[in-house]
Amino acid sequence: MRIVHGGNIYELSAQAGCSPDDILDFSASINPLGPPPGIAEVLSGCFRRLESYPDIHNRLLVDALSKFHDIDPGYIAVSNGSTELIYWLPLALGVSKALVVLPAFGEYVRAFELHGTSLRKLYSTREDGFQLRVEHLAEALQKESFEAVLLTHPSSPSGSLLDGAAVEWVVKYSSSSSSPLFFIDEVFVDFCEHASFKFFLDRTPNVAIIRSFTKFYGLPGLRIGYLLASSRIAARVRDFLPPWSVNTLAQAAGAWCLEQNAYRRRTLELVANERQRLVERLSSIAGFEVYPAHANYLLIRLAPGLQPASSLRLRVFERDRILIRDCGSFEGLDERYFRVAVRLPDQNDRLIAALQNAL
Ligand SMILES: Cc1ncc(COP(=O)(O)O)c(C=O)c1O
Repeated sequence: MRIVHGGNIYELSAQAGCSPDDILDFSASINPLGPPPGIAEVLSGCFRRLESYPDIHNRLLVDALSKFHDIDPGYIAVSNGSTELIYWLPLALGVSKALVVLPAFGEYVRAFELHGTSLRKLYSTREDGFQLRVEHLAEALQKESFEAVLLTHPSSPSGSLLDGAAVEWVVKYSSSSSSPLFFIDEVFVDFCEHASFKFFLDRTPNVAIIRSFTKFYGLPGLRIGYLLASSRIAARVRDFLPPWSVNTLAQAAGAWCLEQNAYRRRTLELVANERQRLVERLSSIAGFEVYPAHANYLLIRLAPGLQPASSLRLRVFERDRILIRDCGSFEGLDERYFRVAVRLPDQNDRLIAALQNAL
């Protein structure tokens, strides 16, 4: 089977004849604490509202986002997971030619292609920790004109961030009236919020930031995403999104999650500590090259003498029911790369033991 997404526990458990609950999933990078405690009460508290349509203007959620980010509600559009935005952006903003920085989440290329957008691909390299060098971007933009540029920040799948000078360059470049639109995927930036491009929105009318509740709030099943952008872009996107795409439960849960400050602090502390510990332990395995990262996942390169990532994935799954993300399907990576989420201490210990065993 071709694996193009992490977190595919339903398909794999059906194939293996086990329950999805038997799988320890390191392939999708989701907050290992799960959603904030108390969410069940919030969800059950709005059950009776299910007999009405959701608020078509998503006011509760938009107002909560506006307060949380200190951004005008007119700069926000909410969606059924960020994937819905990814599919609507090329159409809503009329993108016929785009530059995508790879490797990146595969749905961007698919969405552009479905829309008939002509694509150029710019690859970040192993030497640069798979984060784009801004000189390369500048060169590509000088050679050819584009209507949109797609970046992931932090980079997914490597977890690296642009340095300060590169951020400054993007801000300056994208503030000119002739700039292409910059689609900046920040679905993991909650783990390093200081690095968000949201702080520059007043100066960057051409930047559209794509965000999500999936990763940080542990809610992939509820489907909540949102856009932060200039009021012109946000209004255009709101006009295109289908009505009621964020359901009543998702709106209430999303708004409530943004008030969970203690949970946010706990998450940041846990992920920072465990990421550091995993980096140290994985780096001590012969043949593993671990990339420095700022989110809740780590990209690892296997030295040529070792088995490819697809075999490693099979081995740890068959023996330990642990799922890792073999990155062979990412354009710009190959069968030498895999990615793991940062999880709870005992789970991370199980991962290390399983990897050592499989080698
Ligand atoms: C980089 C990146 N962007 C966007 C998404 C889509 O997330 P969601 O639709 O759950 O918000 C993912 C999911 O894996 C991702 O890894």
